[in-house]
Amino acid sequence: MKVFVTGATGFVGSFLVPELIGAGHDVVGLSRSDAGAEALTRAGAKVRRGDVNDLDALRAAAAAAEGVIHTAFNHDTSDLKQHAENDRRVVATLGAALAGTDRPLIVTSATGLVTSATGEPVRESDAHATSAVFPRAASEEAADALIAEGGNVMVMRLPQVHDTRRQGRIRWHIQIAKEQGRVAYVGAGRNRVPAVHVSDAARLFRLALERGEAGARYHAVAEEGVSLREIAEVIGVGLKLPVESITPEEAPGYYGWLAQLAQLDLPASGAGTRRQLRWDPTGPDLLTDLHEADYDAA
Ligand SMILES: NC(=O)c1ccc[n+]([C@@H]2O[C@H](COP(=O)([O-])OP(=O)(O)OC[C@H]3O[C@@H](n4cnc5c(N)ncnc54)[C@H](OP(=O)(O)O)[C@@H]3O)[C@@H](O)[C@H]2O)c1
Repeated sequence: MKVFVTGATGFVGSFLVPELIGAGHDVVGLSRSDAGAEALTRAGAKVRRGDVNDLDALRAAAAAAEGVIHTAFNHDTSDLKQHAENDRRVVATLGAALAGTDRPLIVTSATGLVTSATGEPVRESDAHATSAVFPRAASEEAADALIAEGGNVMVMRLPQVHDTRRQGRIRWHIQIAKEQGRVAYVGAGRNRVPAVHVSDAARLFRLALERGEAGARYHAVAEEGVSLREIAEVIGVGLKLPVESITPEEAPGYYGWLAQLAQLDLPASGAGTRRQLRWDPTGPDLLTDLHEADYDAA
């Protein structure tokens, strides 16, 4: 299949492109830089130069493809709401370019946008929060609209995606611990994050492209919930810093902008996804990758 991949030069995209090419697909990757274009060419992909927010160019690239995987996102936390609203337009544009065809579009979202009222891991069928609560949900809202119009659109919700170099939002926990000279967790630190190795996430995107069903939500979850206390203890060893519990009142002083997120319990299940797409994650777990991370580089 001729697949147009946005975010092809990113963390997930750099694993996704070789995964697709290895399975026999022709990949056209979007890049806005020379370095990204060179990396894509080295990986065996064709390159579309440009910015994802250039909607005319994006529409043309999607229309020329037999399938689209959209993973680009601007993670600059200073204006997340604006970036999320931009992504709503990007998703709508990609969907419009493929409307009336059976060509698949996979939209990337996050399991953290689905909150558990019961403490049970959230499932693929659970509704996401609105963008009024979590701005990042704008992308999934745009996908909802395309699905309602009958598009062959799927949503891939990612948990903390990791290898030894990157571990989702845990990189900010490491950064804050370095700045604070200690590694903290809140209360008993029983709140959890789900996780997946980046190579397993890449394979799941491919399986969804090849076997996924229109309107499906998939959870790329290998581990349902790793506690923040376990994570803090491994980071403490890596950074050679003391590890301690802090109170919710102390959390803003320690975590800053991450304080609220750091206290959420966000377990998620990928059981339905494993069954439907016959996906069997095999990569190392989050704590193993955190053990082996390079804390000088992090
Ligand atoms: N990693 C995780 O743990 C995680 C968890 C949940 C959800 N997600 C979602 O998964 C997706 C992939 O995440 P990631 O970790 O791979 O992100 P990433 O490493 O930050 O990569 C982002 C990609 O988007 C591209 N991009 C950003 N703004 C662009 C623009 N204006 N025009 C063109 N390209 C642009 C970047 O291009 P450049 O190379 O040019 O910068 C890069 O290829 C994102 O939607 C993210 O929100 C990730």
